[in-house]
Amino acid sequence: MVESDAITSFLVTQGIRGPSYSFPSGSTKELAKMVRQSMETSTSDITHDVFRRTQPYIYTWIKKYGANFIYWHGSHGRLFISEPELVKEILMNREGFFPKMEMEGYVKKVLGEALITNEGEKWEKIRRLANHTFHSESLKSMVPKMSSCVSAMLEKWKDYDGKEIDVFKEFGLLTTEVISRTAFGSSYLEGKNIFEMVAKLTAITVRNANNIRFPGISIIFKSDDEVEGEKLEKGIKGSIMELVKKRESSPNAASGDFGSDYLGQLVKIRHDSDVNKRITAEHMIDEIKVIYGAGHLTTTSLLSWCILLLATHDDWQEKAREEVKETFGFHTPDSDGIARLRTMNLIINECLRLYPPALTLTRKASKKVKLGNLILPQDTNILIPIAALHHNPEIWGEDADLFKPERFARGIAKATKNNSAAFLPFGMGPRTCVGLNFTTNEAKIALSMILQRFKFVISPNYIHQPAEIFILTPKKGVKVILKAI
Ligand code: HEM
Repeated sequence: MVESDAITSFLVTQGIRGPSYSFPSGSTKELAKMVRQSMETSTSDITHDVFRRTQPYIYTWIKKYGANFIYWHGSHGRLFISEPELVKEILMNREGFFPKMEMEGYVKKVLGEALITNEGEKWEKIRRLANHTFHSESLKSMVPKMSSCVSAMLEKWKDYDGKEIDVFKEFGLLTTEVISRTAFGSSYLEGKNIFEMVAKLTAITVRNANNIRFPGISIIFKSDDEVEGEKLEKGIKGSIMELVKKRESSPNAASGDFGSDYLGQLVKIRHDSDVNKRITAEHMIDEIKVIYGAGHLTTTSLLSWCILLLATHDDWQEKAREEVKETFGFHTPDSDGIARLRTMNLIINECLRLYPPALTLTRKASKKVKLGNLILPQDTNILIPIAALHHNPEIWGEDADLFKPERFARGIAKATKNNSAAFLPFGMGPRTCVGLNFTTNEAKIALSMILQRFKFVISPNYIHQPAEIFILTPKKGVKVILKAI
């Protein structure tokens, strides 16, 4: 292992600059101060300069030190890369030179050792299974389940005709219900415990994101959050095991049929007749936990921002409604129709560009490796700021912070001026989001069914505060006034 100081010094000799180190927390205090100030000075204007507002530290440091710079996370240097060509080189590498950065502390508790963080054979095995479960044919069979969840939500919305509703809260419930029913064959109520505990653990993670813990201290002294975090971790494991046990004692389990959903497939390999192919109980629990987390917070964010954008751009709301009417009339959306929604695609892409739910990708150099003209020492930690790429005026033009879905009308390559790594809401390369089609299907179904039944405008009580809370979240919700059609 190369010492972090040596890594940083070597990068500095190659012209990489960044904020200076201050003892003992590195640059994290400066970072936290900039975020605090940005949040305090938020205006009530609904502007989409999301990158500057939510990650002012990256915005400022790129301006000061260039697209690629280094900052100090405690005593460890971390390299930010926002040059599209270099980003592409990192993410498209198939030789394993840039694996995921190792997680520490609470993030590790939330993400565990699962698909998002694992490498090599352990990753490949589950990735194959997840690809199968969240793609094409399997997805088609999920469409009716998704639309029935949306239907149930919209039944409740009937009581809100002419009234205000916080769609962020509504989508939080909807997406948990959808992932519970489609991936785990259970209902929200059954998974409720797990979601609540994952949400609490995520909140603790966010609270502690920039707290630097020093080696050894947590063995001697545990903070309240650490004690609570451990309790939650145990609770999540216990509740997931209950779900698993239920599946293991289901009527067809004796013949090796645990169900075709994600849970069933995971339980199946847990019991594989070939001992070498089996996964451990711990591993299975982590894989389930990660889908509970990844599967709903991100989709909630996407749907909420889409509604905000449509509520404030009446012309696009009308265009989208026209397309939905032409495609489905007043019928429930089906998978063929979903694939034909063109205007809706433009809107979703523009929403993901302006408000990317996942803000940062992490990688590291597994060995001394060349990146463009740079030589990265082994163990260099790398961060890729998605919002910086999505709001870069050199790529998107001076109107980069404006909502203009038409910029995607001639495809992503044209919109990005052939900088494929300039639009990365789902990442790119071998580690591209496995839930991409699942989530876009869910979003299209939900938006279509809402547009069929309601018009909506932004509520005067809405406060625009996009914030980085693990993912890009509307901190004060998204309040709209509904009008039944
Ligand atoms: C709008 C919704 C979503 C967004 C913006 C999003 C974003 C992302 C991004 C950027 C990555 C790549 C991470 C990296 O390269 O380091 C990723 C990976 C992943 N996502 Fe999503 N995601 C979304 C929805 C979902 C859903 C619904 C699921 C599950 C059903 C899911 C499961 C995963 C998993 C398991 C990975 C890791 C894949 C791997 O490393 O092989 N995501 N996601």
